[in-house]
Amino acid sequence: MTQKTQSLYDRIGGEEAVAGLVDHFYDRVLDDPELEPFFRYTPMEKLRSMQLEFFAAALDGPVKYTGQPIDYIHQGRGITTKHLTRFMGHLLMTIREFHPNEKEVDEMIQRISTYADDVLDGAPGDSE
Ligand code: HEM
Repeated sequence: MTQKTQSLYDRIGGEEAVAGLVDHFYDRVLDDPELEPFFRYTPMEKLRSMQLEFFAAALDGPVKYTGQPIDYIHQGRGITTKHLTRFMGHLLMTIREFHPNEKEVDEMIQRISTYADDVLDGAPGDSE
């Protein structure tokens, strides 16, 4: 029987599971020709470790996110809804592959989606 008190992080398998998920997710993102250019000048080792912290913390794991605020890091990069939709699509596919339990898939997507507005450029009219 599942314990209600366990964090989402623990329920999905803890550190090892989240690390595998984040790695796989970024492989998908970088394979996407629409998204890859955004990451061309990004040191991937740092990004992966920051993302791992971020995901672990967002899923209530015993980890503190030490990276930059999400709006600060993304604003001004020209990220539009189209990019965000693709990004979230890769996340959904990755999570589904790793965790066929729909309830946890939904919970994870919901947690990460709460940051969606922070990554989009605020200016109206950038919906290309
Ligand atoms: C809800 C969606 C997203 C979340 C939660 C998220 C989260 C993060 C995190 C935690 C970092 C690391 C910050 C740091 O290094 O301090 C990061 C970096 C980055 N993200 Fe996102 N991200 C999201 C969507 C996107 C999208 C849609 C794009 C582009 C298509 C994107 C492009 C980038 C880039 C280029 C960096 C690296 C910036 C650098 O060079 O340091 N992100 N993101």
